[in-house]
Amino acid sequence: MADAILYGVAQKIIESLGSSTFKQIGSIWGVKDELEKLNNTVLTIQAVLQDAEEQQVENHHVKHWLMKLREVVFDADDLLGEFSTHVFRQKVMDGDKMAKKVRIFFSRSNQLVFSFKMASKIKATRERLNEIATDWNNFQLKLERPLKTQDVTKDRDQTYSYIGEEEVIGREEDRKAIIDLLLDFNVKDNVSFICIVGIGGLGKTTLAQYVYNDKIVHDYFELKMWVCVSNDFDVKKIVEKIIESATKTKPENYEMDLLQNKLRKQLNPKKYLLVLDDVWNENEERWCNLKRLLMGGARGSKVVITTRTKLVAEITGTIKSPYILSGLPKDQSWFLLKQMAFGEGQDTIDPDIEAIGMDIVEKCQGVPLAIKTIGRVLYFKTTKDEWSYIKNNELTNVTQLKNGIIPVLKLSYDHLPSYLKCCFAYCSLFPKNYLIDKLTLIQLWIAQGFIQSPENNKQLEDIANKYFMDLHWRSFFQEVEKDEGMNTKFKMHDLIHDLALSVSRSECALVNSNANNVIEKVRHLSFSFANVSFFRKNLSTLVKANKIRTFILACDPWVGVGETMEESTLKTLISSFRYLRALDLHGLKINILSNVIGTLMHLKYLDLSSNDIEVLPSSITKLVNLRTLKLSMCVNLKELPIDIKKLVSLKHLDINGCKNLTHMPCGLGKLTSLQTLTLFVVSKGLVNSSKHCDGLVELNRLNDPRGKINIINLAGVKDAISEFKAANLKEKQYLSELELRWNPEGNDGAIACDD
Ligand SMILES: Nc1ncnc2c1ncn2[C@@H]1O[C@H](COP(=O)(O)OP(=O)(O)O)[C@@H](O)[C@H]1O
Ligand SMILES: [Mg+2]
Repeated sequence: MADAILYGVAQKIIESLGSSTFKQIGSIWGVKDELEKLNNTVLTIQAVLQDAEEQQVENHHVKHWLMKLREVVFDADDLLGEFSTHVFRQKVMDGDKMAKKVRIFFSRSNQLVFSFKMASKIKATRERLNEIATDWNNFQLKLERPLKTQDVTKDRDQTYSYIGEEEVIGREEDRKAIIDLLLDFNVKDNVSFICIVGIGGLGKTTLAQYVYNDKIVHDYFELKMWVCVSNDFDVKKIVEKIIESATKTKPENYEMDLLQNKLRKQLNPKKYLLVLDDVWNENEERWCNLKRLLMGGARGSKVVITTRTKLVAEITGTIKSPYILSGLPKDQSWFLLKQMAFGEGQDTIDPDIEAIGMDIVEKCQGVPLAIKTIGRVLYFKTTKDEWSYIKNNELTNVTQLKNGIIPVLKLSYDHLPSYLKCCFAYCSLFPKNYLIDKLTLIQLWIAQGFIQSPENNKQLEDIANKYFMDLHWRSFFQEVEKDEGMNTKFKMHDLIHDLALSVSRSECALVNSNANNVIEKVRHLSFSFANVSFFRKNLSTLVKANKIRTFILACDPWVGVGETMEESTLKTLISSFRYLRALDLHGLKINILSNVIGTLMHLKYLDLSSNDIEVLPSSITKLVNLRTLKLSMCVNLKELPIDIKKLVSLKHLDINGCKNLTHMPCGLGKLTSLQTLTLFVVSKGLVNSSKHCDGLVELNRLNDPRGKINIINLAGVKDAISEFKAANLKEKQYLSELELRWNPEGNDGAIACDD
């Protein structure tokens, strides 16, 4: 267990206290001294956190202390957030002159009361913090960081931008052996089963992929399918995935009978290859149920299964003995370590360092995932002494690999810079094997305040992207898919996911089906099922976790929900979670979104996509911190809020597929920092309506639009050429794609241009 996220929040407090907003607050409201004292306290706390994190493993007093501390630090962050939001809202209102007059007339005294209240709240929080902070003397927590956790920074900016195709090292013989088994025609049954067995991180999936993509294999089989099975051995789900892999389309939610027929149709006359990756099931009956369905292939069909346990292999394999994968040979291990630990073009390596390196790979027992992550730790260690330190002090307890390679991975985690630790720990919210969308993750990180403020005009999104690349570079993430816009979907290796779980246990919970892991103190919740009745049934348990900052649905987007989320349940949920930074309610068939949404003053990320909403409550424009608003595929949505310009922080507005939108709201162009605007609907008729925006010229007011814009209804534009000139899209350097449609839908000759 660790406290990466706590560290991140402390960092954020220090940053906001140093910001111009808080300097202003300090002098205007006479709380400068209080704020300064608060800053000092948090600085001290942050300095000892690292050591506390390590000590709490053995010292339960420290652990308890950390728990108390966490409560207060989060409260302090909430309080400051409330403060700055208040100021922010005032500023937004000041922009509106009428509102300003009204405000001055009515609320002088309110202001005074407010500032008095805030000042005393800050003082109270600081005193609580102080009280706890003084305790750290009792534990003799160390202020400075010991050698082992110092990050010797070596500039590696070049590697951020590009991570090459991953090379498979030292698996030629294994590849040949497996291919021989695949091409073997001299078999008893039409379909035979081959098991690859080995511990986690050894390279089973990699080897299976290597073979799967081989040209001879590709030409030999008529049909190839790849399915990631993992923990959940649900025959119906597996069959769905097999069909999906075979047809490249997701099947509807059919009954089992129909699915079986579909599967049979796919497999029947063909010589197929199926990979079932990462099978855990030890239940023979379930296996037989699946096996029966697979037997229909033509002679020579093969099923490859990868698994960690021999028992699974015994149940599933028909070929005499499973293929036991060994670790990489020593020379190949060293080759892989060298690749990770030294930059490109380093040919000569100090023989002393090489000798230490050889010992280190020995401890990794040829497991590539261990070698890769430790290699990245060593990348930052340039001297012999540092290499020895890792070998002698930090790798001592991993000689046996009794617990697999988790200790090696933990070591790599310990060496992450703090800002990456919290970003990584947060990823435990996604279920195992979940395909994580990079842009979404980046937006969630930003919403939580994990991204350090950029210098020199850089966008938070760009910094967050660097964090992502860095974690990828260190093998904490594995890229899986890239779309045309260069957005990535990625996964975490099973063991890396276990690591994320173990370091975030106190703060994040992936809610289980009876919600008994939702405890009051948890700060981030995710649900791997969008099951409306679940929310209704467990409402009273859920709302107890009333300090959560994250509520996300991490489920397969194509699994539709049956029921509609009722207004009352939704209202209770929203009004209980006042401190939410990120709220995801996509695909819940929501008709009406309650006005209470406007009370979520900290909210930065709101995903309402794929719901049935027709209008958004006007209170939504009170969310001055909102940075991401996702409404894609809200096909009933008629219009965007009239006062959208009040959402001054908005950077990402995704309204893709909102085909009932008739116009863009007035003042859209005032959101000058909008980066994502996926759709622009040109008004039909009624152009002078005060509700509507000024037309394409609004696009010119956006400073930094990125990605794709889809402009529809162009038939409504009288003078398209001059409107386009006014929109000035040529000058927008990060715009990657433009799609133009004359009518909202239909084949009217869409023009797409990439630039
Ligand atoms: N032969 C290899 N050469 C280089 N990297 C490898 C090799 N085998 C595995 N890896 C890397 O090690 C990590 C774990 O491999 P993986 O195949 O997922 O392990 P397993 O399926 O056995 O748990 C991945 O990042 C993968 O790229
Ligand atoms: Mg695997």
